[in-house]
Amino acid sequence: MKPKILVTRATFDDVIGKLRERFEVDDNQKDDTPLVGEEMKRRLADKDGVLSTGSDRFDAAIVEAAPRLKAVCNVAVGYNNIDLAACSERGILATNTPEVLDDTTADTTWALIMAAGRRITEAERWLRAGNWIQGWKYDRLLGQDVHHATLGIIGMGRIGQAIARRAKGFSMRILYHNRTRATKAVEKELSAKYVSLAKLLKESDFVSLNLPYSKEAHHLIGAKELALMKPTAVLVNAARGGIVDDAALVQALKEKRIAAAGLDVFEGEPKFNPGLLELDNAALIPHIGSATRATRMKMNLLAVKNLAAALAGKRPPNLLNPEAWAKRRR
Ligand code: GLV
Repeated sequence: MKPKILVTRATFDDVIGKLRERFEVDDNQKDDTPLVGEEMKRRLADKDGVLSTGSDRFDAAIVEAAPRLKAVCNVAVGYNNIDLAACSERGILATNTPEVLDDTTADTTWALIMAAGRRITEAERWLRAGNWIQGWKYDRLLGQDVHHATLGIIGMGRIGQAIARRAKGFSMRILYHNRTRATKAVEKELSAKYVSLAKLLKESDFVSLNLPYSKEAHHLIGAKELALMKPTAVLVNAARGGIVDDAALVQALKEKRIAAAGLDVFEGEPKFNPGLLELDNAALIPHIGSATRATRMKMNLLAVKNLAAALAGKRPPNLLNPEAWAKRRR
């Protein structure tokens, strides 16, 4: 008998094909409706494993309702959707997909730096709205220079480092803040200077958030932190909703206390603070940080690898909760 798995959202047919070779697959290819609450519990009731997205919630109540579940394999690097303690308690292995999306997410972050700094999405809206009647103009849509500016990176992990590497091509000065300081070798390679959060916020022209969401990171950037930023500064968040207090950000953008923001992620997405839609100085994209076919495929295949290992009784390569592994081995 093949192990039974749930694939929570519609994915590439090749991936489903690969999964069907090993597993009995319950997929969502047709409707692709997000599975929540009772429906998620019902679908998980007889499953051994699940291939999940970062938007599917695996809290204690959901995990409790899945007596056979042995593995939750996220197709995402972030895993704040999974209650790791609840999984570990039940010996359920949880995994994510690091590294394969670093460069693509760094590219997207750069797209937001450029779009918000140089008012690209705003300029396109303006053009499409039929406003371009009076030829070239000296002061039309003036933005912030990216080249030779100071970039402050909060969260200097693999993605933060990939962003810094690209910034060298723009001759930027690079400041960073991280829970733990990077090695001397990394600092040297990236010409990046470790500073306090307050100093980074005060001195940066562009602030990029590249840290995982955690309770400690909740509203890391709120009214007080936004008040430290320059009126010409740009804030970019391609990490996770909830790291920024979006209500405070709307206020700061409205009052032009900072120049602009570029956001790929939002508090409570896919719903988000409606105030953002009123603002010309916000470049908004719908959580597409890793969205290229090649990268999404790599993420899927890595998650399949994790799932296959977990359900074959092997330690998956991207295990997040070694406690669960220890429990299973006992
Ligand atoms: C996307 O947000 C991810 O965590 O991979």
